Amino acid sequence: MTAKTMDELVSLCKRRGFIYQSNELYGGLRGLYDYGPLGVELKNNLKQAWWRAMVYDRDDVEGLDSSILTSPKVLQYSGHEDTFADPLVDCRSCKSRWRADDLKDHKCPSCNSEDLTEPRPFNLMFKTNIGPVDDGKSFAYLRPETAQQIFTNFKNVLDSTSRNLPFGIAQIGKAFRNEVTPKNFIFRTREFEQMELEFFVVPGTDEQWLDFWVKDRQRWWVEQGVNQSSLKLHKAEKEKLSHYSKATIDIMYGFPHGLEELEGVANRTDFDLGSHTKEQSELNIKSKVKKNTDSGTRLAFQDKQTNGWEVPYVVEPSAGVDRGVLAILNEAYKVEELEGGKERLVLALKPHLAPIKAAVIPLKRNHAGLLEEATKIKEALQNLQLGRVLLENSGNIGKNYRRHDEVGTPLCVTVDFQSLEDQTVTLRDRDTMDQRRVPVSEVAACLQDLLIV
Ligand code: GAP
Repeated sequence: MTAKTMDELVSLCKRRGFIYQSNELYGGLRGLYDYGPLGVELKNNLKQAWWRAMVYDRDDVEGLDSSILTSPKVLQYSGHEDTFADPLVDCRSCKSRWRADDLKDHKCPSCNSEDLTEPRPFNLMFKTNIGPVDDGKSFAYLRPETAQQIFTNFKNVLDSTSRNLPFGIAQIGKAFRNEVTPKNFIFRTREFEQMELEFFVVPGTDEQWLDFWVKDRQRWWVEQGVNQSSLKLHKAEKEKLSHYSKATIDIMYGFPHGLEELEGVANRTDFDLGSHTKEQSELNIKSKVKKNTDSGTRLAFQDKQTNGWEVPYVVEPSAGVDRGVLAILNEAYKVEELEGGKERLVLALKPHLAPIKAAVIPLKRNHAGLLEEATKIKEALQNLQLGRVLLENSGNIGKNYRRHDEVGTPLCVTVDFQSLEDQTVTLRDRDTMDQRRVPVSEVAACLQDLLIV
């Protein structure tokens, strides 16, 4: 069973230190969230799983970490200055402002008035000043997608790695959009993270690669604990496609507020490299691009046999980290009935995503002998470098188990007085609540087994 409402997730996130409203101390800033001690671990684990699948498990993808501040030229030629806008409607009665697609029956969602303006485009990019003089000219944008700097680095990566087509460049990082109506917790925010792969392919093979990535990305989400039945595919209608796309398949997920996009897989054709390259007229670019008079680099691929130059096509799987975190929390959230009419809340996260991999708990708080033994076990487990291992020296074993159920810790290791005599401990499994006695020397292997993806 997934979470019943978004409120239940929001409440768990705040209570247990996953996610907080940003700037809350001063009343909060809309559309911004901070990840707390457990949230940052979960988010890092998700990003690591993506990086592993995209870069380490494949032999045709390289990584990149580019700057967030982006030259206006990049976003001028990419088409974002002209077209990266949401249609916006003002309510003349209550002066509120809405995305046109948020309106139902052409009525203001706040006061129900029908006295609305016609939709006007509102550019979603944030600008900031570069350098000490604010003369309106020396500005940069905060990137609205991580993708653009992958395209501008295409030749750098190609030259330094000698790759052949097809190959990809992967990047994880922040993106910024001045969303008109941020909403649904971390689903639509103004500052968020993306995990993007730009996969460069021989033109003509792009449609097969689109199919490949749509399948592969669904498989990956299922590996992260998302139920296959919660995922649906949606092919964007022609008139709703982004300015760069020939075809986009959205991987939709049943969030608590409804079925919405978790990840988009787009066929960006040769639009982006074709837009940023110099010598456009020599390159037989197939998509409609703006004439580039500023680029100093040829973004094309030379065929080793014919020596001819060609602009590769690009297939892009682009996933939101925050939407991923939300989907995974929603999938993992379970309320179980226990004997005696009691309930327990358990976050059944896949172990590789769990913020705390194991909690080591001395049965009695501050007991020197138990604490010493528990500390040794914690250090040995921590040294395996599998993620965070917590020493839980707070007494009350039952409460500790409940707390670790709620935050998704897959394994609790309890050190009791018998441990001091025979070097055994109790392992308690989060999902089954089963407890078994094992020698201390086997604990590391038990944790390692649990974490194999
Ligand atoms: N480079 C392509 C691109 O940016 P997109 O569909 O606009 O495409 C990709 O964004 C993914 O980024 C989305 O599927 C979503 O997961 C995430 N995303 C987009 N806007 C977001 C927002 N305002 N808040 C949180 N995540 C967002």
